[in-house]
Amino acid sequence: MQRLANKRILLGITGGIAAYKSAELTRLFKTAGAEVRVVLTPAGAEFITPLTLQALSGNPVHQHILDPEAEAGMGHIELAKWADLILIAPASADFIARMAAGMGNDLLTTLCLASDAPLLIAPAMNQAMWRDQRTQDNIGALKDLGMAILGPGIGDQACGDTGPGRMLEPQELAEFCAEQFANESLTGRHLVITAGPTREAIDPVRYISNHSSGKMGYALAEAAVESGARVTLISGPVNIDSPARVTLHSVNSAEEMLNASLNQLESCDIFIAAAAVADYRPIEVADQKIKKKTDQMQITLVKNPDIVTTVANSNNRPFTVGFAAETEHVIEHARDKMNRKGLDLIIANDVSQPGIGFNSDDNAVTVIQKDSEQRIPQTSKSQLARQLISLVAKAYETKN
Ligand code: C5P
Repeated sequence: MQRLANKRILLGITGGIAAYKSAELTRLFKTAGAEVRVVLTPAGAEFITPLTLQALSGNPVHQHILDPEAEAGMGHIELAKWADLILIAPASADFIARMAAGMGNDLLTTLCLASDAPLLIAPAMNQAMWRDQRTQDNIGALKDLGMAILGPGIGDQACGDTGPGRMLEPQELAEFCAEQFANESLTGRHLVITAGPTREAIDPVRYISNHSSGKMGYALAEAAVESGARVTLISGPVNIDSPARVTLHSVNSAEEMLNASLNQLESCDIFIAAAAVADYRPIEVADQKIKKKTDQMQITLVKNPDIVTTVANSNNRPFTVGFAAETEHVIEHARDKMNRKGLDLIIANDVSQPGIGFNSDDNAVTVIQKDSEQRIPQTSKSQLARQLISLVAKAYETKN
């Protein structure tokens, strides 16, 4: 069930007496740390109230397509894209037939047509309806489309019959959903990522900094969340919104970034240093704005602490990953940096090449470990981040 943490589950409830169990299912998802949004069909609303589901899911319940108010909140296409997984429980014979026919005549069928997320169907109906050849043909069609059919169970039915057609129990359904994320490699892990530049104050209005955009670190945070991790992002000042489901700690200086990083170490499994930390800071910060009195002025700088080295050499160190931006002898210099800083893995990029690296949308890197080098050619930072997270996860698993 841990695998459901941070997952976005869209629960579709259609008409059937088993709808009352979907309240319990919603609660199980929430307890497992998932975000839940419920879509309730008009027939479903005859069996369970939107208020119950709203209270349990913590979100408004979606009931009608093209409802101006709902569309203004989260529109139906947005909702289709939002979901990591769609579960229809209970799924009535009517819903199954409409899905098999490819219809989009209500909110739920439209969402299912518009979403790329895995679709799981938990049928619930009278045993004769389930056995009917038309229902069986429709179920076959949904299976051919790659949808997972969960159950139904066999036993006593609310109508007094006995046979196949009972919705599976909420616990079983939640476990099936968790299983869908089994190959996601960072489930249950805590990743700490530093990102962006640092600002080193000269006086109350001036600072030394660099042009780092933070894009790479933020993309890594997003990719890590997608693969099931709990993510803490320690970021210098940037102009990017925090990715959803990430705990953000905003900092200014290298010292603040170091302290924020050390505060996370107790629970940190993997530390990725993607920040462009200023190497030096003014030895003194003036209390008041420095006045323009002389033709020349000198600022004495002192070396900043090396955050990733401090983390890599701490007791109970996490799996530690750094970046190396180099302009020549890229692999050689990066490997040297990996050894000097005591890292498990280093991601080297050649910043002498135009269009990649610092402040751009693309990057191309070489992932270096003790006994291997792997080149990832130029691609968008978000695409690259997914590949990097998958490589880091594999390296982490191998080491532990
Ligand atoms: O030494 P250099 O700045 O080239 O090393 C880059 C790597 O070290 C990056 O992963 C960067 O985030 C990290 N670093 C750090 N603290 C510093 C300097 C660099 O964590 N003070």
